[in-house]
Amino acid sequence: MTEIKHFYETFHPEHYDVYIDINRGTKTFSGTTKINGDAVEKTVLINQKYLNIKSVEADGETVPFKVDDENEGIQIELEKTGDTTLTITYDAKLTDTMMGIYPSYYEVNGEKKQLIGTQFETTFARQAFPCVDEPEAKAKFDLALKFDEQPGETVLANMPEIRNEDGVHYFDTTVRMSTYLIAFAFGDMQYKKTKTKSGVEVGVFATKAHKAKELDFTLDIAKRAIEFYEDFYQTPYPLPHSWQLALPDFSAGAMENWGLVTYREAYLLVDPDNTSIDTKMLVATVVTHELAHQWFGDLVTMKWWDDLWLNESFANMMEYVAVDALEPNWHVWEMFQTSDVPAALQRDATDGVQSVHVEVQDPAEIDSIFDSAIVYAKGARMLVMVRALLGDDNLRKGLKLYFEAHKYGNAKGSDLWDALGEASGMDVGKIMNSWLEQPGYPVVSASVVDGKLTLSQQQFFVGQGKEIGRQWQIPLNSNYDAAPTIMADKTIELGDYEKLRQENGKPFRLNVGNNSHFIVKYDETLQKDIFDNIDTVDTISQLGLLQNLRLLADAREISYADVVPMLKGFSESTSSTVTSAMYSIANNLKKFVKPNSDEEKALQAFFNKLSEKQVARLGWEPKANESIDDQLTRPYVLNAALYAKNADAIEQAHKLFEANKSDLASLPADIRLLVVRNEVKNYGSEELVNNLFKDYKETSDPSYKADLSVAIPSTPDAKLIQEIVDKYEDADVIKPQDLRAWYRGILNNDNGQQVAWDWLRNDWSWLEDTVGGDMEFATFITVTSYAFHTPERLAEFKAFFEPKINTPGLTREITMDMSVIETKVSLVEDEKDAVNAAVKAEA
Ligand code: BES
Ligand code: ZN
Repeated sequence: MTEIKHFYETFHPEHYDVYIDINRGTKTFSGTTKINGDAVEKTVLINQKYLNIKSVEADGETVPFKVDDENEGIQIELEKTGDTTLTITYDAKLTDTMMGIYPSYYEVNGEKKQLIGTQFETTFARQAFPCVDEPEAKAKFDLALKFDEQPGETVLANMPEIRNEDGVHYFDTTVRMSTYLIAFAFGDMQYKKTKTKSGVEVGVFATKAHKAKELDFTLDIAKRAIEFYEDFYQTPYPLPHSWQLALPDFSAGAMENWGLVTYREAYLLVDPDNTSIDTKMLVATVVTHELAHQWFGDLVTMKWWDDLWLNESFANMMEYVAVDALEPNWHVWEMFQTSDVPAALQRDATDGVQSVHVEVQDPAEIDSIFDSAIVYAKGARMLVMVRALLGDDNLRKGLKLYFEAHKYGNAKGSDLWDALGEASGMDVGKIMNSWLEQPGYPVVSASVVDGKLTLSQQQFFVGQGKEIGRQWQIPLNSNYDAAPTIMADKTIELGDYEKLRQENGKPFRLNVGNNSHFIVKYDETLQKDIFDNIDTVDTISQLGLLQNLRLLADAREISYADVVPMLKGFSESTSSTVTSAMYSIANNLKKFVKPNSDEEKALQAFFNKLSEKQVARLGWEPKANESIDDQLTRPYVLNAALYAKNADAIEQAHKLFEANKSDLASLPADIRLLVVRNEVKNYGSEELVNNLFKDYKETSDPSYKADLSVAIPSTPDAKLIQEIVDKYEDADVIKPQDLRAWYRGILNNDNGQQVAWDWLRNDWSWLEDTVGGDMEFATFITVTSYAFHTPERLAEFKAFFEPKINTPGLTREITMDMSVIETKVSLVEDEKDAVNAAVKAEA
């Protein structure tokens, strides 16, 4: 990788005066930015992208400058180094890319409206004003905003407005902060506000397309989350306000701008009267994630993007720590186990995956390192291991030291390890670097060798992988004291197995609680012992055991055919965690059958067996005062019954549809998707699909909208499928931010896969122009690889993507996904007969 010069090496900004004048009518803006700071070199480099630079002055004198579009900068020639004030004037266009300053589009009562907002992470502040757009270049900002203002409009920024003069809104000086965290927004808004115990003003803002009550849930969570963090971090929230703003157009999920957090509407607005418990948990974790960043990321920021994990891994762990403290009855760590944990284990098993800490230089590559399964999920698991080793007291003590030492500044990974080490007396870095710097994770084989209980570690791969002798420092979390806390060696012996078994009086287990990032392969004796006593195992550990089996089967260490007969034993669990893990294996069997084949029929019959008792127990409609587990289990088992084509289930869903036809949004949110999808699949017509599309366009309920984006593409009708794909590029119907769900929907539809895949290949350059440069872009490739498992599709995938392998930001994704499909193709080829025979025997 070529070394790219950081602009910060040439200029250290101290203070910015940013004046921006925006015209929505002409979709243009103009601005003047004054940057005071220290010129380290006589040639200084300031970032800009798509700005038309009109003049540059240094200390009031015009100076020569050159716009360098390739490096997204301006090169300015100064007479001297040292204290300098640069004044840059420019104009630019507002674009619809959801980066920089951009409009969000929405309708209220049929009237088209827009709201202007910003998205500056990772490198888009430079599209709004000239700046040294690197996380290390912290400075204070005075923002002044003017726009074609209408009466009654609301204007928001990181800091409160201090005056309004001649239509210009002036905001209070910020604290010292990074450019990627600057934000502002304006338009016609509604809001609700409250105050934390310590006096921080908390607010939730949204367009007027929503009902006022949709703001309540997050207002409460946000307030309590700030109070929780102030206590947990032992460090006050340093700004006067914390605004949460929902933007109709939003590329990521949410963004932690300091004092003005922005969200997708689906992640902030909750109908208190009809929202499923898992959506509530999800929204709560998004809010607590972004608010965790107000300290981790905003107050202390990574020095460079290679330490992105300091932001994201940490926020990803803290979102669960916080929600668990605020709503202990939700058992939110179970959600971590059913979402983040399998994602991390799956992706991190593919050779070529990035490590959590990852070198990055080129701005075009920065977005591609936000691999959610690694930097978020694996990174969070890594920190969960740290938390378990240190305990909360030491963790909090260490964090307090870390914030004290680096507040309003920057840090590297080693700074965090040092602070935690100082608090705990442990060499945290030594243990954690094996997880941070190395890609992949180990499988620990536990076996009885010559009567001795023996453990050995080896890197775990699904598919081809180069064994290069990597080793990890593994927190074993065993239920036998004979096992050490940390396994650092390749192989260890714990002693005489029979004796240990007797002393302990229970089956030997590792990774109890499933909080360490490794899997276990037990030998036959040990495995049988565990599964014979499965009722004594806690539910998260049961999920861990099932996850082990699935991964080992994917890696060909065991056969899916041997796993199939084990599933029934878990089918009546009242734990949604266990149910989720069981169905994640069952759903993996779908790739072994062809559409409309006898094998598919047998698999459907098997799904019927797995689900029928639970369907009878839970029924279709939520019961008053039922447990959260029951609420969460119901959609899994009903989904299985519908896949099984259970006639009664299809009929029941149809009846629910009929009864709620005039107001589908009011169907119970937990089952709404299943009901509507069943109707589209089994009772569908052009009229139905058109009506649902109309609802999709008109509804302001983000969770109903999400349901429709999954239900509509499930139509079996070829003509309707084509009509749906024809809408992909019509942003008036499908916003680019939601397109991936629609693409995936048709791709996973047996009758639609060809059409969706043809669309992707034919319109790739449109897609690149529309969502390229976005962190989500590469995931269009990921979802494609998840859908493919035949030799024909593998060949087509390679033919299309191999020539694109050097596209900045796509190299790793393309390489890994080719391997992902290849692995599945040979798995299906080699094992389909045995697996289908096993399914038939169970069905
Ligand atoms: N900082 C990110 C958002 C982001 C990521 C912006 C990459 C630009 C590039 C934010 O804190 C985040 O992690 N958002 C998540 C949602 C979160 C709750 C997991 C996202 O957008 O997916
Ligand atoms: Zn984040």
